[in-house]
Amino acid sequence: MALRGSDTFAEDWARSLTDPQAFAYEQRRLAFVWTFLGFTGDVANEGDWFRASLATRSVFVQRFGAELRGFENVCAHRFYPLRTEEKGNGPIVCGFHHWRYDVDGKVIGIPVCQQQFGTVSRALGAHLNQIEVATCGTLIFGRFPASKKRESLLEYLGIGFPILEALSRPERKPLALSTRLKANWKLAFHISLDDYHPVAIHPRTFGREGYVNRENVGYFRFGAHSAFLNTKRAVALEEMAAACADGSFQANRYSIFQILPNFLIAMFRSDGNFFHCCIQHFIPVSNDESILRSWVYPAPFPVNSPWLVRSTRWLSDIVRNRLVVHYARQVMRQDNQVCERLQEVAHQVGRPPYLAALEERIGWFEQSYLELVGGSEE
Ligand code: FES
Ligand SMILES: [Fe+2]
Repeated sequence: MALRGSDTFAEDWARSLTDPQAFAYEQRRLAFVWTFLGFTGDVANEGDWFRASLATRSVFVQRFGAELRGFENVCAHRFYPLRTEEKGNGPIVCGFHHWRYDVDGKVIGIPVCQQQFGTVSRALGAHLNQIEVATCGTLIFGRFPASKKRESLLEYLGIGFPILEALSRPERKPLALSTRLKANWKLAFHISLDDYHPVAIHPRTFGREGYVNRENVGYFRFGAHSAFLNTKRAVALEEMAAACADGSFQANRYSIFQILPNFLIAMFRSDGNFFHCCIQHFIPVSNDESILRSWVYPAPFPVNSPWLVRSTRWLSDIVRNRLVVHYARQVMRQDNQVCERLQEVAHQVGRPPYLAALEERIGWFEQSYLELVGGSEE
């Protein structure tokens, strides 16, 4: 049964892949949507900060005591970026003329202010653009503020919140990978939602078992997001969320959660009863370029194995980590090549695709994307 992509895709869905203006419009809208920025581990200590991209705009997140604050990474004076490294520690002082800002982003120190501006620093009223920041487990999300009341991060992630919270707590520092993709970020997100391609594109890694039988797996939609759980049980998502919330969850099946606009977390069997997690973040750079960042780590749940196997896990994890990274790199390379080839002909695409049953979630993504991008800015 082929699903009609036209039920879910806009006719001109590929325009933002080729038209810089359509891409810019999309990104302006997505700036108001909760977007993954980074990990709490990178802002563990007082004054720690990291830089991130929020809908192509440079932002940074910084710890002030118990609180995390986020700001657009542009000085109020003459728009120099305040943070010019990936991460660091220290007060907010612009490198161009040394304007200094406080925890609220208000300017509190301007060199020779009276002489240059005829007043004192605070009286000038200059301030940074603050962004809203919220966490789920170790994950930090942010968005640009809007005047109307909107969903909290808890509401936005819905039933996915306790799951992301539990899955995102690695016991050791994850292995990080990063690659530049000459393709639009949506193509990379689409392929992550496509369970139809592994036989053709990843024959040696996943294809051996043939096509997934759609009848035997669960596709779940929650809010703007969706998940694939390798089970037929209709209540599997509710059960997983409840077990994650009360701390009783044990990894037992492949699961993947795609969180709009550009984040996913997957859990897969790496060896026997051991599971690994993989986080992927598709960062839009321009209409035809993206950065794909990934993190891999052992699933942070007890393993249902004999004592000896469990007690040597820290050691065997080292071997499994290497294997998982090896396969992750291989799979990403294959997927990225597909995305780059799709990008090459994207200007020739003027209609929705035919969606297979195993591509149903791509249609869900496009529907939710249209709602997010079509929403009002205020
Ligand atoms: S641009 Fe930042 S102090 Fe001048
Ligand atoms: Fe793939």
